Amino acid sequence: MDRRTFLSRVTIALSGAIAGLVGVPIVGYLIAPLFEREPDAYVPVGDASRFGAGTTTLVQFDDPSPLAWAGQTAKTALWVRGVSATSFQVFNVNCTHLGCPVDWRAGANLFLCPCHGGVYYEDGTVAGGPPPRRLFEREWRVSGGVLFVKTQRLPTPGGSSP
Ligand code: FES
Repeated sequence: MDRRTFLSRVTIALSGAIAGLVGVPIVGYLIAPLFEREPDAYVPVGDASRFGAGTTTLVQFDDPSPLAWAGQTAKTALWVRGVSATSFQVFNVNCTHLGCPVDWRAGANLFLCPCHGGVYYEDGTVAGGPPPRRLFEREWRVSGGVLFVKTQRLPTPGGSSP
């Protein structure tokens, strides 16, 4: 092996090593959130008696496991529908089309999405428009008269089911 070939190979080997030293931590940092699984937790959203049968109420909801840089986006909301005195449906506020917050129209018993005209029935099923599936529902439980909502990870709007 002549000197030129040797130096060329050393340069390629050092370049590869440097690229690995710099690139692996960066790639790891970027894809790590995909593999981290935040533990699900139940957070209180109010007295269960507040969500009587036949009512649909907006509640503020702070995601307890936001990304460090989430800022204001960690603050979200939920729609709580009282089915009976002991049964509820808790909907994510985001439309399943592209994620706009849906609004409850009590007079029509419908959720309306202002962005592209998505419409959902009171039970979260799609009534019309572009939404590909019903509103995302969260698990809930009542303890000590307080309604708790599970902070489960939900699919991206427009994506597939969890
Ligand atoms: Fe709701 Fe498009 S985001 S219909």
